[in-house]
Amino acid sequence: MPTTDDAGRIVRSPFPIPFGWFQVCWSADLKPGDITPLDYFDRKLVVWRDEEGGAHVNDAFCPHLGAHFAYGGSVHGTDIACPFHGWRFDGDGRNTLIPYSERTNKKACVTSYPVTERNGIILAWYHPHGDAPAWEIPDVPEFNDPEHYTPVETREYVIDAPWQDLAENGVDSAHFRYVHHTEMVPELESYETDGPRTKMRSIQKFPTPRGIVDGRIDADSFGPGFSVIRFSGIVDTVLMGCNTPLTRNRCHMRFTFTVKKLGDDAAVNSTVGQAFVDEIDKQVQEDTPIWQNKAFLARPALADTDGPFTPFRRWAAQFYAEPVDDSQLVYVPAETREFEAIETASRRFGTDPFAD
Ligand code: FES
Ligand SMILES: [Fe+2]
Repeated sequence: MPTTDDAGRIVRSPFPIPFGWFQVCWSADLKPGDITPLDYFDRKLVVWRDEEGGAHVNDAFCPHLGAHFAYGGSVHGTDIACPFHGWRFDGDGRNTLIPYSERTNKKACVTSYPVTERNGIILAWYHPHGDAPAWEIPDVPEFNDPEHYTPVETREYVIDAPWQDLAENGVDSAHFRYVHHTEMVPELESYETDGPRTKMRSIQKFPTPRGIVDGRIDADSFGPGFSVIRFSGIVDTVLMGCNTPLTRNRCHMRFTFTVKKLGDDAAVNSTVGQAFVDEIDKQVQEDTPIWQNKAFLARPALADTDGPFTPFRRWAAQFYAEPVDDSQLVYVPAETREFEAIETASRRFGTDPFAD
């Protein structure tokens, strides 16, 4: 249910949690036998890995008497065991053993979520009504090519903003100059949507100490939780951007980067890659105070040269299986959040749009 303020107005956004594939952890963080608690989708869940390597996501609470699997539970073969009375369940949530009974309980079923593991991340399919996955997550070649791409670098953030506002940042070309102080605004070549997918192609000029370098930013989304962004020009960097809703208005954002190797010199690869990761990390920190304190406007006043907000919002609308509130034009956050301004690297190489 949406949060309302004292006057009964819905807070921050009109949207429920979208359905789709969402990252729940990095593969490397989940070893066989591990059970990790999760708070995604306004639910209590666990992600666990069986002894044959399969990853599973299910509700956190045992259907017997409600113990939380992640606090004392254990993995046996391909089953998870509850810490309270030792009942075991398979990856589909079926009861496979009651240690003090000859029988199992067919009604005792744990809700489990479809899982896919690829590109070094584990994703779960969330749908509020339990509908089956409606699209797939692709293999991203760069994250499966250790010969030509560096080991990944990762970043993660928890941001008090709805998924849609974080995603809308990608089509908002004008903000790069004012929030990120980039000298050149990306020039949109095309923006297409096709079912759950979006495809954005843009040209980006990168200011460097040695002059302007022509580059590209090409972004592909596969539903609300998974996108691949390819930056080329200075160095070929690929980023998987994954937003996982904790609640309607709070997201866990994860980035996984890899950089095309420039040669065998690991030090050079990591310096170039690090500069890029730091730049994106800086951009998130610059965006966060805007995201956390902004209102959602149902009818924004746009400039003719603004990015493709309308097609973006039309695309985003398909992921809401529950009602979207349409009673307000403005959805205001419940509270303001303080932030600390940071001095930025690109500011050094760019032009401050607020100068003179
Ligand atoms: S609560 Fe899980 S086995 Fe009893
Ligand atoms: Fe941004």
